[in-house]
Amino acid sequence: MKSYLIKTFGCQMNEHDSEVLAGILETLGYTPTGEMERAGIILLNTCCVRETAENKVFSLLGRLRRQKMGNPELIIGVCGCMPQQEHMAARIRQLFPYVDLVFGTHNVHQLPELITRVEESREAVTEVWPGSPVIKEDLPVRRKEGVRAWLTIMYGCNNFCTYCIVPYVRGRERSRKPEDIVAEAASLAGQGYKEIILLGQNVNSYGKDSGSGFDFADLLKKLEDESGIERIRYMTSHPRDFNEKLIKVIAASAKVCEHFHLPVQAGSNKILKKMGRGYTREAYLNLIAEIKALVPLATVTTDIMVGFPGESQEDFNDTMDLVRQARFDSAYTFIYNTRPGTPAAGMEGQVSEEEKKERIQNLIRLQNRISLERSIEEIGRIQEVLVEGESKKGKGLQFGRNRGNKMVLFPSAEDLTGKTIKVRITAAQIAHLAGEIV
Ligand code: SAH
Ligand code: SF4
Ligand code: F3S
Repeated sequence: MKSYLIKTFGCQMNEHDSEVLAGILETLGYTPTGEMERAGIILLNTCCVRETAENKVFSLLGRLRRQKMGNPELIIGVCGCMPQQEHMAARIRQLFPYVDLVFGTHNVHQLPELITRVEESREAVTEVWPGSPVIKEDLPVRRKEGVRAWLTIMYGCNNFCTYCIVPYVRGRERSRKPEDIVAEAASLAGQGYKEIILLGQNVNSYGKDSGSGFDFADLLKKLEDESGIERIRYMTSHPRDFNEKLIKVIAASAKVCEHFHLPVQAGSNKILKKMGRGYTREAYLNLIAEIKALVPLATVTTDIMVGFPGESQEDFNDTMDLVRQARFDSAYTFIYNTRPGTPAAGMEGQVSEEEKKERIQNLIRLQNRISLERSIEEIGRIQEVLVEGESKKGKGLQFGRNRGNKMVLFPSAEDLTGKTIKVRITAAQIAHLAGEIV
């Protein structure tokens, strides 16, 4: 019996790559296991966007040493974004000589031959392609069960924000063909999925590389009309490329949810410029105003970073001020972390760890207050909730997400998983709402 375990770090891109890795392993006859000790192959699908993500991988690899010593047949593989960095594959080899297989983000489809090479040679195998190879269609996918499925619409990123490693490890933007995307969405609808999340590092750039003029707004319309799926979400959008055409398509759509995840990163024009984000705070706030004018009940969420090189207290105050004005429903907050090889790594004015910590705490405190206020605004509204199942928060409670992507809890004796129901919101907390079926 061959069984596999994949441990995934990082973003939805990696989560979905792991679903493809699982699909490939299952066609090779492997079965999934939740226990490290029982696995015949263990893959770590890694992330390198911040050092903390890398450290988790190093420490797990350290712990796997003993298991490998006790079971030499075990195959340990490291894949994903970490090995795509210069020198990293060699470093992993050197630090953890018992790792059998190292491969990159562009080598997922080669997994069967890589495993064969390990089995036949019993030597370490490394395969990391640089650049931006062509997209491989028709790979098997083993998705998690549930109401929601991830669907990649494009790979790579061309933005090179000065702090970010992603363009170096994922290559340039490559869009899948609209027909392939719609066919996959229709197949997902046929399998019973209710919601798809379209994935790309910057989905608003969809289609730019194909030169056909068919853009992200066109893709959303096509999916709305042709896929048969109930709900459509997407991530991540870049504020610079979020145009009026797109807002209008979303406003007019019954299926595309009114949730706008628009990473702002910083509120100071000086810092935004140094980050290479391509918009000003004014342009960003105008965009939000435009969205709220056309989609009054829109929820807006964001990513924010503190402590970028050269960020003064005044710059940070600008971020706090933008957060007060934008009134985000929620925000992912990060402490800037130096990524070797990125332009920001060599910039002057690195902020002390102490200051970064203090800033992020102030930011989180402010955002939590606003998140709660935004949630309270929902009390009394009747919302459409796609039910995901039984909640762990209490017996007889079920949960799902509203169109704004907020978690909603409600009591129900009947299992309503997969159904879209109406719930009146009666109570609110920072991270979820509660209500009753109407
Ligand atoms: N493509 C997406 C997400 C990229 S990574 C986007 O452009 O929004 C997700 C988040 O990680 C980013 O939005 C950013 O806030 C954060 N991030 C990226 N690089 C980072 C770094 N070097 N240090 C800290 N946070 C970082
Ligand atoms: Fe990184 Fe910027 Fe690309 Fe997002 S848009 S992945 S932050 S370079
Ligand atoms: Fe991390 Fe790679 Fe995603 S670096 S954030 S897993 S694209």
